Amino acid sequence: MRRKAILITGAAGEVGQALVQQLADQGTDFLLTLDVRPLPPELDARVTHIVGDILDHSLFDRLVSEYEFTHIYHLAALLSTRAEYTPMAAHHVNVDGTMHLLQLAADQSEWERKSVMFIYPSSVAVFGMQTLENKANHPRPQEWEWNYPITMYGCNKLYGETLGVYYTKHYKQLAEDEPTMLDFRCVRFPGLISAFTVPSGGTSDYGPEMLHAAAQGKPYACFVRPDSAIPFMAMPDAITSLTQLAAAPREKLTRQTYNITAFSLTAEEIAERVRRHFPQAEITYEPDLKRQRIVDSWPIDVNDDAARRDWGWNPAYDAERAFDEYLVPNIRKRYQK
Ligand code: SER
Repeated sequence: MRRKAILITGAAGEVGQALVQQLADQGTDFLLTLDVRPLPPELDARVTHIVGDILDHSLFDRLVSEYEFTHIYHLAALLSTRAEYTPMAAHHVNVDGTMHLLQLAADQSEWERKSVMFIYPSSVAVFGMQTLENKANHPRPQEWEWNYPITMYGCNKLYGETLGVYYTKHYKQLAEDEPTMLDFRCVRFPGLISAFTVPSGGTSDYGPEMLHAAAQGKPYACFVRPDSAIPFMAMPDAITSLTQLAAAPREKLTRQTYNITAFSLTAEEIAERVRRHFPQAEITYEPDLKRQRIVDSWPIDVNDDAARRDWGWNPAYDAERAFDEYLVPNIRKRYQK
């Protein structure tokens, strides 16, 4: 008899660590986590962690013989800036890795005659506003608008979304009303800001980096212009979105990919908030052309009406609460230690 498990890939990443913590706190299911890196010891003690690669097919053959995955949270990915430097590696991890897991989930769904739930974080990087004028004139795109990514990561995520829909709705389906294979559900995250971890390899990283630098008394040179605006979200809301979407009744979902957001700020508005709490903060601007171009291609905000309507998405943290109640107090504690 195989053991029922929730699989979380990319578990040692920023979203992964926060999700593992949350699911372990809920404490009901067996959590199998995977990452190329070990988990921090306090999390490792609460799950069964495997240090391994999502591209290692023999590892998965073994796992599938031992576990029946009821849910897969597929978080492993190379983020947008890193992917620009290593596009082939990004494609392998972000596309081949996703394809491999989707196929595995579809096979499991078929054997068990029960849909495996596949939760996939996509990104604001799937959008590609072509000029700053487009960006200003179309501040809140719908899911299907402006899907012209300019990064390898954005292309990979958009294709990952498409594959998820394919495996759910079309793979081995002969008629519209046949039970579907997978239950693929996807949120597109804006830039995420955590009080407990710092991102690496992303392009929205200037937000969290500015704040973490100020809390440590370090100067920070922001790599985009002060007027650069994109949507952001505090990490607890990102985790809520994943668990809330997973818990939503399937018949309520009118889409499989949902935009979500919490608040939009320019880099200078983030800097102002940081200075309000850390008056000594030394923030300067040294725009990096490549990263600036990426941020310029992302919309100022996104339309998340469908998520709000279908599964009750409603972020707990607007910009004010995110800084005053979550980020600043926890970051202060973290660096005081
Ligand atoms: N935060 C991500 C990045 O910057 C976007 O999803 O790559």
